[in-house]
Amino acid sequence: MSVTEEIKSRLDIVDYIGENLQLRRSGRNYAAFCPFHSNTRTPAFYVFPETQTWRCFGACAEGGDIFSFVMKRQGWDFKEALKHLAERAGVELEPQTPAVQQRQAAEEKQVQLLTAAADYFHQLLLHAPQAAGARDYLSKRALNEEAIATFKLGFALNSWDAARNHFSEQGYSDEELLAVGLLTENPDKGTRYDRFRGRLLFPIRDGNGRIVGFGARTLDPNGIPKYLNSPQTDLFDKSAILYGLDLAKRAIRQERQVVIVEGYMDVIKAWQHGFHNVVAQMGTALTEAQMQQLKRYSKRFVMALDADAAGAKATLRSLDVARETLDQEVEIRFDARGLVQHEGRLKADIRIVTMPPGQDPDSIIRDDPARWPALIEQAKPVVAYVIDTAVADLDFNDAKAKTALAQQVIPLIKEIAEPVERDHYWQYLARALRIEERTLRQVQVAVKKPGRPLPPPPLSTAVPDPYESYPRDGKPASKATKRPARHLREANLLSQCLRYPQTLMAVNERLLEQAQPPVNEQDFPITEDRMILHELYQRLSAGSVAPISELWDSLERSLVDRIQSLLTLPDVVEEEQERLPDKLVLSVLDWRLSKAKQQVNEIKQLVREAKEMANHDFVDLSQQQLRDLLLLILNLNKAKGAMSAVHRRQSEENGRL
Ligand code: UTP
Ligand code: MN
Repeated sequence: MSVTEEIKSRLDIVDYIGENLQLRRSGRNYAAFCPFHSNTRTPAFYVFPETQTWRCFGACAEGGDIFSFVMKRQGWDFKEALKHLAERAGVELEPQTPAVQQRQAAEEKQVQLLTAAADYFHQLLLHAPQAAGARDYLSKRALNEEAIATFKLGFALNSWDAARNHFSEQGYSDEELLAVGLLTENPDKGTRYDRFRGRLLFPIRDGNGRIVGFGARTLDPNGIPKYLNSPQTDLFDKSAILYGLDLAKRAIRQERQVVIVEGYMDVIKAWQHGFHNVVAQMGTALTEAQMQQLKRYSKRFVMALDADAAGAKATLRSLDVARETLDQEVEIRFDARGLVQHEGRLKADIRIVTMPPGQDPDSIIRDDPARWPALIEQAKPVVAYVIDTAVADLDFNDAKAKTALAQQVIPLIKEIAEPVERDHYWQYLARALRIEERTLRQVQVAVKKPGRPLPPPPLSTAVPDPYESYPRDGKPASKATKRPARHLREANLLSQCLRYPQTLMAVNERLLEQAQPPVNEQDFPITEDRMILHELYQRLSAGSVAPISELWDSLERSLVDRIQSLLTLPDVVEEEQERLPDKLVLSVLDWRLSKAKQQVNEIKQLVREAKEMANHDFVDLSQQQLRDLLLLILNLNKAKGAMSAVHRRQSEENGRL
């Protein structure tokens, strides 16, 4: 039994959630007002003791196990939830693998050094005579003492070795200073010197408030670079960190919205004026790793971009930019297509607003704080934003320009996962261009052809079901706790994607072609699998198709256990690798179908119970749910039909060859 299973077997989800929420018995199950969306009328949140799961039948339409409940409720990551629940259950967590332990210890030491460095620079800023200019600069930029202290701004002396001397006196070696980027080495001459000299320092903290690096601004108006940052290390991964998140978490949750700005200064200035739900992406495009973090606090993102970073031309150009280039240090701060994909995958609501030309949040708030909320209010959904921006520059008499614009925007529309939303933007684009929607739909855009699909061979059923349930303490395993072999499909998808990470992208591409949302967390009933999926996406979005062995070293032990058990599922034989994605798409469609059907049954059962208890509100609510589910089932069947038709055609073609 894995640790998580052990924990689950010792805790009862009803007891646990009952401590947090007012649960009301409803037949065999328990109902409550959903804690994840605002509602006061209908208890749409159900806890199912038999399967030890929960589900919201209202606006969130989400569900999961005790782990996902804790994570969502507390905004914790898996590790934090694991620690908390293990303690509750009295289960001792196994120590991490030695590799992980070693890495954690090394990181801890680096964080200590960086924290000491931040204190050192901060004291210099506050008191050193040489920092008088820096202090002056900050007061010119209207930062107050409280902000300077809260963000622990600092100053590095204009010296080649002041920091080095200070820290070697404290017992740190050059190697340690190099590793965290306080020292720089000249590769030709082999000389070593302070990286930050005569600059204003912004300590960068991760979401948990640990200092992991610095951004250093020149005080010289012509200084280059304007900001010198810590080098990329395991600890300081710019693509995964959001400046200010540690201070913003609470406000983001309270305000149900996060505002993403570009710069350090913007965050600090906003914070100083009481706008606490603001974080910065630090000059790169928003990555999925960053969004995954933010999503824990709110699914509504407003990106406040400088006019130059997201000007009309840049916007359209970046539509075409391949995703791979994102990870290089290229100046792409806005990648509409990437955002729309993220949006679908994360089920997020991403909006864009640009600052007036020549201004940034810092200058706007400084001039008139009241303008800030007003501007944020005007943010538009990504696709609407792109269309509006492009159309603003369009010469309506230029037919060729219209065509070009349509060709650029249509792929973006096709990328939208939600069918209703997608339709909405076809209409939106048609109206914006003053062209019939019918005509627009005929516009030819180059799309990548999917690989050739073939009918899926039946899955071996001889494999042990990794979702096989465990007996609950003392209680006999009831029919419902025994998870049906159906989940084998989910397990199989994960195991193949662990072996061939790119398969996941290929599967998503095909799902999107069939107007189905990409593989997402809700596809998986248990939290470990969601975490593994999440890891896979993070790695893919960082451009890595890392072998599994690399996952080993960086993961929680309990996830490693799970991965190991997933890998006992059979691998595909080489000749079948090419058709793997098609096979998997069909299996995704299949399991989504069974899940939808199962939910229909669940709801019907709940409705019967609700009627007995004269809970008319739930009966009403469930009608909408049922309609949605039936529509979903219809669409899934359609997609399945389309996929199978492709199969047949391809196999016929193959037959003719
Ligand atoms: P900006 O050039 O907009 O700077 O870069 P800013 O934040 O408005 O700074 P001030 O107001 O001029 O002092 C936005 C962000 O891009 C990153 C930094 O994170 C910066 O805050 N950046 C910019 C770099 O990392 N390096 C650079 O050379 C420039
Ligand atoms: Mn600025």
